Amino acid sequence: MKVLGIETSCDETAAAAVENGKVLSSVVSSQVLHWKYGGVVPELASREQLKAIRPVVREALTEAGLDLSNIDGIAVTYGPGLVGSLAVGVAFAKSMALAAGKSFIGVNHLEGHLFSVFIERPDLPMPAVVLIASGGHTVLLMVEEKGKAILLGQTVDDAAGEAFDKGAKLLGLPYPGGPSIQKVAEGGNPCAFDFPRPMLKEKNFEFSFAGLKTALAVFLQKHPVAAKDRLADLAAAYQEAIVETLVEKGLLAVGRTGARTIAVAGGVAANKRLRELLLFRSKQLGIEVHLPGFEYCTDNAAMIACVGEFYLSQGKRSDWQLEALPNLPLSSFVREFTPFFRLNMFLY
Ligand code: KG4
Ligand code: ZN
Repeated sequence: MKVLGIETSCDETAAAAVENGKVLSSVVSSQVLHWKYGGVVPELASREQLKAIRPVVREALTEAGLDLSNIDGIAVTYGPGLVGSLAVGVAFAKSMALAAGKSFIGVNHLEGHLFSVFIERPDLPMPAVVLIASGGHTVLLMVEEKGKAILLGQTVDDAAGEAFDKGAKLLGLPYPGGPSIQKVAEGGNPCAFDFPRPMLKEKNFEFSFAGLKTALAVFLQKHPVAAKDRLADLAAAYQEAIVETLVEKGLLAVGRTGARTIAVAGGVAANKRLRELLLFRSKQLGIEVHLPGFEYCTDNAAMIACVGEFYLSQGKRSDWQLEALPNLPLSSFVREFTPFFRLNMFLY
């Protein structure tokens, strides 16, 4: 089966072709024009999506050696994300599918991130704990098999990527904050400052990063010159607080659920220190870990095409009435855990 995937939920325009889980092409065009504003400007993002979508889709098909006649379906992200950006992808994919007589499948962006862990590891041992950490979400899932995910916990306020982006802004570093903080932190000492590890003492699977950002803001108010004189140490210590929280909560989930593997996904999963610490701690505990390649951590359309192919192979497709849903909930593909499951986990 061959599926074309399209992803336009925020400031990346992406298209990819997959065949039986194998990526034939994956094209991503990032909108750098937002950088000078220090964050994504929704109105500009949707205009840029409109400009980029045709050439990006064409390139993905050409690179894969395909045309519309020999694909089976078109999958597109329909939420969550920016409504204007999503609408461009949904309208484009729907029109193409309708005109060419192909199946049309709407995909939850977060399910795309989840499927990114299977691209290079289709045989990932299950059940697996999967941590999705992106700009808008921080979610811990237990995956029993493809298409069967249980929500363990998520952030109660800011997402991990948001903590990187807001922290970078406070430190005067450019957007996007994750890569900026990572770069500056390379020369710093992560133990130089002691930032809080939010909710690490609470042995549940919830996250909270808003207080950490406030701790950095308060510190900078009290020590205004530190952002210049001790920038590398501050970035390293702030990054360490985010990373350690993500890693320890993820490993706690493995212990409590009896999962066989842990995998990470989403833009923050590209963080070098996160990958290093997760590998180190998993080795200590004898837990198998899977870290997807960088190109599959940040937004891409290969992951969307993979979800589409999975649903199509089960004979499922979307209605032509499907529209962009900026607040599409996790429950479109994730189950809440049952009271019995909860009891089992917390009896330890
Ligand atoms: O998954 P993604 O590309 O888009 C969303 O679905 O949000 O994630 C973007 C987020 C941003 O907050 C960005 O700062 C963060 O991922 N990010 C990183 C790194 N690369 C991207 N955070 C930490 N370290 C990185 N190397
Ligand atoms: Zn994403």
